[in-house]
Formats: sequence, C-alpha cells, structure tokens
Amino acid sequence: MAVIGAALPRFHALADLGREEVRDLLDLAARLQRAPEPRALAGKILGLLFFDPSLRTLASMQSAMARLGGSSVVLTPGRGTWALETREGVVMDGARAEHVREAIPVLAGYVDALGIRAFAGGEDLAADLADSAFRAMTAVCPAPTINLESAIDHPCQALGDWKTLDDLGVPARGKLVLTWANHPKPLPLAVPSAVVHLAAARGMEVVVLRPDAYALPEPVMARARDAAARSGGSVRETGDREEAMDGAAVLYAKSWASPAHYGDAAAEAALRAGLAPWCVDLPWFARARADCRFLHCLPVRRNVVVTDTVLDSPRSAVIPQAHNRLWAQMAVLHRLLGGTP
Ligand code: CP
Repeated sequence: MAVIGAALPRFHALADLGREEVRDLLDLAARLQRAPEPRALAGKILGLLFFDPSLRTLASMQSAMARLGGSSVVLTPGRGTWALETREGVVMDGARAEHVREAIPVLAGYVDALGIRAFAGGEDLAADLADSAFRAMTAVCPAPTINLESAIDHPCQALGDWKTLDDLGVPARGKLVLTWANHPKPLPLAVPSAVVHLAAARGMEVVVLRPDAYALPEPVMARARDAAARSGGSVRETGDREEAMDGAAVLYAKSWASPAHYGDAAAEAALRAGLAPWCVDLPWFARARADCRFLHCLPVRRNVVVTDTVLDSPRSAVIPQAHNRLWAQMAVLHRLLGGTP
C-alpha cells in the first residue's frame, strides 16, 4: 500500500510504483516547479555514473540537485575515471582497471544516492530484457540507486513524459501512438519499453506502430498490458499507419533495434535500407486529432527520424518535454533523499 509523501528506497522502474506513488511524484514535480525549495536537500550528494553519453539526463540531474540545495559528483568510466569492468568472472588483463564490484561500493560511501546509466549491450536480447548489467551493479550498491537509462528502462524519461502529457492536457483515455522511426543505427529498447508502459499505466489507448520485424518483445508488451489492465487502458501493435493515427492525441517517435535480428548488424542494415519513409512528416497527422502533439525523448536526428516541418511546427512539444525531466527528477530526488514532505 503506497504511502503518499513516503521516501522512495530506489528508483529503478516506474512499474515498481503504484499509481498513487506516481501521482505523488507528479504532484511534487508540479509543486517544485511552482515553488522552489532551495534547501530541501542541503548537504546531500548524488553520484552520477555514466557509462554512456547524455545531454539531458546528466545536465538535468546535476541541475536538480543544485536547485534543491545538494551537489553531485559525475563519473564517466574510461574518460577521466578508471575504465570499469562490469562482466562477472572475467580475467581482468585488458583495458578495464577496476571492477564495479569494488568501484560501486566505494562510491556509495562517498554519496547519499547513486544514479547509473548503462545502455543495452545490444547483442544478447535475453540479457538486455533481464537488465542483467544494471541489476548486478545495483545489487552491490548499499546506497539508494536511480536508473538513468538501463538496457530496458528509462523511468526518469517516463516520469517526465507523464508530466508532459498532463501539462499538455492530453486526455487520460486519449490515444497515444508510439511509432518506430528511421535511424542509421539499431538503438536500445529502453525508451520504447518505458513509454509503452507509462502510457498504458496512465490509462491511454496505446498503439505501437512499427514495420514488420520491429514488434516489441513479448515481455515489454506483457508489462504494458498488465499496466493497462489495472488502469483501464489498452495496448496493441500494428503496421497500418493510417489506422493507427486515426484520432491520435499524441504521436511519440522512437527508433529501436529489431528484436527479430537482435545483435545482427548486417541483417539490421539490410532491413533499414528500405525503411527511410519511416521519417515522421506532417502528412502522418492527416487523420489525427487537430491538436495531436509530437513527442520524442531526444536526441533526435532531423530529417531522418522526423522532418524539420514537424519539429519546427506547433505540434512539437519536445522542448517542454525535455524540460520536464528536471522537475520530475527533482521530485524523485526529494523523495529518495528525504526532503520535507
Ligand atoms: N532523453 C535522454 O535521456 O536524453 P540524454 O540521452 O541526452 O540524457
């Protein structure tokens, strides 16, 4: 049973939280946006361990801590910090000088909470779906941990996106289309997995629009279906763009690797050669609601994923969407590090 205003022990997945806990975080995010609390986390220190690059997550996390009166320490393994080994049982005679089994408990002694970004390996679908690397690291961390994007989830993005949907006045039962989009590289499943779940948990009619061979893995869809069953929403997949976009309130674009060819770069490249038309353009909105908005987590490749005409149109809400990362994460940090209720 969720207790509103209670401390969070960790923040690994939105699916770990009850609807009341998500509502509590969203209400707190809105409150912190309206009424700053510059001393709420005075003296607290957040460690940020980034195995992979970032603009939004890194800057918004540091800014969030600073705005709440705390501070942060950023570590980028292999770039100013020892290259860290994450694999179990390996002979460490290569470039990686330190194992996370020592590094993470050491860091946990210096900070009050630790955020970790570690993208999918992209070779072993089962391991990435199980979030093996992130789970192994959090298991050896005695401090509270935050998922800054793991192999299969991006809860900070999801919470910010939920706030964006609320801010935009998107109806709770509105139709959200998550579309696969063109991209030069096979990308992780973390964001599509997080988005399909959050929209289902919000009670929306969720349609995943994707080419053949890009159906989301069954565990991702099953988690979203479970959330929809509790919220009164629904989740389905289709390859029919016109039908998917009919009456849509939100079009959320993201590229992801083909689960059917996971880790097979040559097969992926061959598939993508014919998928350049999966670049979101204004005609895609022809059958959508007049006020249908465009979302993307960013970074986005202009005129590959989405055209300039969409990104520069009033439909696009990608900038306020990115700004909501800040308020959402401030709420998470507030609950995690014991700010006043
Ligand atoms: N959306 C997102 O997480 O952006 P970054 O990769 O720049 O952090």
